[in-house]
Order: sequence, then structure tokens, then C-alpha cells
Amino acid sequence: MQRLGARQIDFDNFMPTHQSTYKFYPARTQPERSGDGLLDRVIRLPVDGPSAHPDAERGVVQELHAFDARPRVGFDVQAQHWPYHVKSTMPALQFQAPRGTQDILPDDAPSWAFVEDEMRRQARLANYSEIRTPTFEETGVFQRGVGASTDIVEKEMYTFLDKGGDSMTLRPEGTAGIVRAYLQRGMASRPQPVKLFTELTTFRYDKPQKGRFREFHQIDFEVIGEADPLADAELVGLQWRLYAALGLRNLSLQVNSIGDQKCRPAYIQKLADYFRQHLDGLCEECRRRLETNPLRLLDEKKPECQAVLEGAPRSADHLCDECRTHFEAWLGYVEGAGIPFSINPRLVRGLDYYTRSVWEVWPPVVGAQSTIGGGGRYDGLAEQLGGRPTPGVGFATGIERILLELKDQDVAIPSIADLCAFVVYRDEGGKRLAFRLAETLRASGISADMSFGDRALRKQFGAADKAGAHYAIVIGDDDSVELKDLRREGGEQRKVAIGDLVAVLKGERGATE
Ligand code: HAM
Repeated sequence: MQRLGARQIDFDNFMPTHQSTYKFYPARTQPERSGDGLLDRVIRLPVDGPSAHPDAERGVVQELHAFDARPRVGFDVQAQHWPYHVKSTMPALQFQAPRGTQDILPDDAPSWAFVEDEMRRQARLANYSEIRTPTFEETGVFQRGVGASTDIVEKEMYTFLDKGGDSMTLRPEGTAGIVRAYLQRGMASRPQPVKLFTELTTFRYDKPQKGRFREFHQIDFEVIGEADPLADAELVGLQWRLYAALGLRNLSLQVNSIGDQKCRPAYIQKLADYFRQHLDGLCEECRRRLETNPLRLLDEKKPECQAVLEGAPRSADHLCDECRTHFEAWLGYVEGAGIPFSINPRLVRGLDYYTRSVWEVWPPVVGAQSTIGGGGRYDGLAEQLGGRPTPGVGFATGIERILLELKDQDVAIPSIADLCAFVVYRDEGGKRLAFRLAETLRASGISADMSFGDRALRKQFGAADKAGAHYAIVIGDDDSVELKDLRREGGEQRKVAIGDLVAVLKGERGATE
């Protein structure tokens, strides 16, 4: 058996389908890829050892063609029994995107724009202003903010010493940096609260899998400087509306309160005492965590720990009066707004800065990496970062997770505004005119494109079709152009004076791009 990283292929028993073509990557020359479907068709060809293919070449991507697909059980791995011959070869790409990252390609753009546009619309509707903070911060911002004993800080941060010898970290989340900016930039002296939103790239070194990336994107909303539970409710309402407006259905909102500095220490003590009495029912990792962060045991998923976890004391039963009042008021507002929720006593979240309200939104089919978004209150965070006590609350939602869910739920993504005009020319003189006309159209707010090079007229029309242009505009010999509607079967060509073209196009399509 060859070790093939994320997906294992048993070469000795591998059955190709008749006449299928596979791309074979020589072992060890390509980094592992997963999560992008590539491994469905890509198999590494062993270059060494008894099962090596005779034509396998190191450093070359080989496309091999199956020509003998007789079913074999207990496949003989001698080289001459490989049922493929090399069809074509091409040099292996030297560089690939780092594991756990994605290239967002032009075909993906409409879905991203769809989600981002909705984020902006919801921000506008609820009066949130945009903020952008640096991609990296001093490491202490996350150590102190997110918490030294969290998985994120312990294992997942991309931390490096810069050339000045300072420890920096690519942000694993947005809230700590936003609160740092709030404190540093004097936002406390503005009318409170400050309602902010942002879209950010985030970095966590974790094992990539479906829905879990090392570089991913979050939409983040924060209300800083407000203790009223109405702020918590407003954020939940905003998050819920964002998903609904995108077309997501059957999501579930899980809520809990984990208390504050006043009541949480006693609760954590109770929790730790309980776990110490039930060590036998806990896994190794839980026992280790018990010493650093007992609260985090509650969202352990391993089946062997579940019996003990089910019986654990619940934070909501150990809240002080203020926290209880806050929790009840929050849920009252959420309920009043008609948003359904489930109180989940084991919801604790993976970041240490939370106080009181915590929540998550789950998809209809819950998997290990499926939480679409989560948030909570962080009234102690500003102080942890050296500022004055400042209440705050917010949520973040992963864009990749939203996109996966949109796909799972078959939500149709609207296409991005289409191309209005494709200007077509016959010769060099016409090309100059075509360029001038394309520039005039663009300056007038009408989208326009044209071919580079000196393509034949037929090829230019082909390019116009491929680009999905609404009209082809053929440059004529005089002061007029031929306008052809490409979306109408057998559409007539009609003559339009160049001076009238902008008005004609705007009239036909409305004054849009
Ligand atoms: P979080 O729960 O760690 O919270 O992350 C928020 C969301 O980011 C998750 O629900 C998920 O959609 C997405 N996400 C997290 N890790 C990954 C990953 N490895 N790959 C893809 N998506 C991922 C926070 O980050 C807090 N800052 C939220 C917050 C804002 N709390 C208060 N304000």
C-alpha cells in the first residue's frame, strides 16, 4: 500500500475503469492536496519499489491511460502488470498554493460578491461602519485576548519573528485586533457604542478538511462600548437576517451564557471538581485540558467522554443575578423578534475572552467543521489588552462555510452584472476607433470590451459570445456603427450614429452598467 496523504489508494488492489484516463503524480514530488476535489482524479504513481510503474518519471505529471481493466483481485504488483501506458507527459508545476489555502478564481467571484454585497447591505440597514485592521498584530494581542490556553493560541497561530526581532502573528480571528484598534485610536471618545463590521482574512494552522482551511475569510460585526443585552440581540438578529437574505434555510441558533468574572470562577471550580471525580470517563486530552481550561471540556466531541459531559454542571444554573438578568433579557429580545433558538448548556466556544452571552449558528446537517458562525460578549477583553473596562459583543461567520452551505442547499447565485457591449473592428484604423468608442462607453457607465491582437471578425464575434456580451458594435467606415443584439436569435443589425450610441444603449438596457 502506498501512503498517499489525505486519501489513501491501495495500489495493489486499485481497479481502473475501462478506458479511463488518470493523472498520476510521481510520489513525493507534489504536496498533498485535499478539500478541493483534486484527489478524486489524481493518484500518485509510485516511482520506487516493487509496484513502481516502468515509465514513471520523477518530477513529471504523467497522464496515463488504462487499456486493460480486467478485474483482478490481489493484484500482482510486478511492474509489467501495470494496466496503463503513458499517454502524455508534462512538467510538474514547481509551485502550488500552500496546503489549506484556496485560489478564489473568476468562476467563484459571483458567489463571493453575493455574500459580500449582502454583508454590506445588512451593515447599512443596521447602521454599522466599516473598519479594517492589520493582517498581523503583535503576538501578545492574541495571547492575552484570545487566551493562552486556547487551541488557537496553543497550536494554531502563524507566529514569526520579524526582522526587528518582534514576535508577530497572522490574525487567527478579528475581534482582538478590532478592540486593540478601538483602544489605540481613541474610539472610546466617540459616541458609544461603536458599531463596526469588517471582512477579514484569518489564519489558523490546523489540519485542512472540508470547511476547515488554514487561510479563510470571516465577516465580522462588533458592538463596542455597550453592555445592554439588546446589543447581543441586535447582532443575533443581524446574523440571522444575513443568512436568510442569502437564501439559507433550516439553520439552528444555539445559545448559552457562561457568566462573568464574578460568577464564573466558582462555576469552573465546580466543573473541575466534577470532572476530577469522573476522570475514568475522560480521554487523555480532556484530562490534560482539565488542568488548563476545564470549560473547554464541555464541547469535546469524543464518544467516550460523552457520558461524563452530559452529567456536568451547567453554567446557566450557576449565574450571578446580573448575568442571569442579562441572559433572560437577551433571550427575551431574541424571542420577541421571532428568532427561534435552543439553549445549549454545553456551548462554550473556543476563545477565552467571552463573558455572558455565547451563540453559534449550525447548519441543518451538523458535522465537525460545520458551524457557520458564532459570537458572544467579551466585556473583559479591553482590559486584558490594557485598556479601560469596556463592554463589547460581536460575531463572525466564515465565508467559506457560508458558500459550502449555499451549495449544499442548492441556493442559486445571481450572476454578476453582465457585459453590455463588445466592440468589433475590421482593420487597424477601425481598431483605433473601436478603442476610442470602448473608452467613451466605459466613461459613460456602460460596460464594454474588445479583442486584443488582430483577430478576424469571426473570432471577435466568437469572443463577444464567450464574454456573454449583450451587443456587438461593429465599427463602420463612416460616423456610424452596426449594433447587433447577440441575445436575440437572428437579431437584425441596425445602423446607429456614433453620437447616439450611449443614449441608445442606455435607453435599451436602462441606465445600468
Ligand atoms: P470563531 O468561532 O473562532 O469565532 O470563528 C467564527 C467562524 O469562522 C466560524 O463559525 C467558522 O464559520 C469560521 N471558521 C473558523 N475556523 C475556520 C477554519 N479553519 N476554516 C474555515 N472557516 C473557519 C471568532 O473568530 C470570533 N472572533 C467571533 C466573534 C466576533 N466573537 C465576538 N466577535
